[in-house]
Amino acid sequence: MVVAEQPLDEAYGPIRQLGLNIGLAAGLLGLAALAAVIGLGRISARNRRLQSAKDAAEAADRAKSAFLLTMSHELRTPLNAIIGYSDMLQEEAENLGDAAKRFIPDLQKVQGAGKHLLALIDSILEITQLEAGRMELHLETFDISSMLREVVTAVQALAEEEANTLEVHTAGALGTMRADRIKVRQSLFNLLSNACKFTERGRITLNVSREPRLPADWITFCISDTGIGMTPVQMAQLFQPFTQIDVSTTRKYGGTGLGLAISQRFCQMMGGTITAESALGQGSTFTIRLPAAVVNDKVERREEAREVTPD
Ligand SMILES: Nc1ncnc2c1ncn2[C@@H]1O[C@H](COP(=O)(O)OP(=O)(O)OP(=O)(O)O)[C@@H](O)[C@H]1O
Ligand SMILES: [Mg+2]
Repeated sequence: MVVAEQPLDEAYGPIRQLGLNIGLAAGLLGLAALAAVIGLGRISARNRRLQSAKDAAEAADRAKSAFLLTMSHELRTPLNAIIGYSDMLQEEAENLGDAAKRFIPDLQKVQGAGKHLLALIDSILEITQLEAGRMELHLETFDISSMLREVVTAVQALAEEEANTLEVHTAGALGTMRADRIKVRQSLFNLLSNACKFTERGRITLNVSREPRLPADWITFCISDTGIGMTPVQMAQLFQPFTQIDVSTTRKYGGTGLGLAISQRFCQMMGGTITAESALGQGSTFTIRLPAAVVNDKVERREEAREVTPD
C-alpha cells in the first residue's frame, strides 16, 4: 500500500490560511466597530452642537419678538397723543378765527404723518405677532356686501389720487360668511391699496363670487389692475416680509413691504390662499380664496387638549 505522504506544512496550509482570514476579518470587524463608535460619537457631538445652536437661535428669535412687541406698543402711546392733540388743535384753530386758521394745513400734516407712522408700527406689530404665533382669529358671521362697501369707501380716495377708476362686480347673491371680519377687510384693503398705488390713470376691478362647495362654500375676491405689473423674477419674491421689488419702486411708492406678507398669513390662518398673476407692464391680478365658514383650528386644538386632560 502506497501512502501518499503529504508534508505537514502543506496539509495544514489551507487551515492556517483560513485562520489568517478569520483573524483578518475579525480585525476588520473590530476596526469597523471602532470606526462606528467614533462616528456615532462625532454624530452625537454634532447633534448636540446643532441642538444648542437651534436653542440659541430660537431664544434670539423669542427675544426679538418680545422686543418688537414691547417697542411697537410703547411707540403707539405717544403717537396716539400726537394724533389726538393735533386733531384737537385743528378744532381750536377753526374756532379762534382767521389768524389761527393758517395753522390748520400744518396741523393736518402733523396728523397725517402721525397716522402714517402709526400704520407702519401696526404692520410691524402684526407681522411680529404672526411670526410669534400670537395672533388669534375672532370669528363672526357677517354680510359680505356690507363688508365690501366699507373697504371700497376706504380705498376710493386712494384710487382717485392716481386718477384710477375702481369698479366692483359681484356674481349673484354673496350672502354671509363666518370669518375674522377685520382680517378679511384688511387683506382686501392691502391688495386694493397696492392696486391703486402701482396703477396710474388705469382701472382697478374687484370681482367677488361665491362658489358652492361641500361641506361649505368658498368666497373668491379677485383684484385686477392695469398698472406696472411684475416680471416672473419679481413675482418669486412676493409675500416675503419686508420685501419690495426694487429700491427705486420703494423710493417712488413708499411702504414697508409688509402688506402682502401680512395678508397672506391672515388668509392662511383662515384656511384660505392668496395667489398672484402678473406680467411686466400689463397689470396684476391677486386672488383671495376663503372658505365661507372658517374653522378656528387653534381654538379647536385647545379644546381637544382640554378634553384629553380634564382638570
Ligand atoms: N398690484 C401690484 N402691482 C405691481 N407690483 C405690486 C403690486 N402689489 C404688490 N406689488 C409689489 O410687491 C411689493 C410688496 O407689496 P406689499 O404690499 O407687501 O408692500 P408695499 O406695498 O411695498 O408696502 P406696505 O404694503 O407695507 O405699505 C411691492 O413693493 C411691489 O413692488
Ligand atoms: Mg402694500
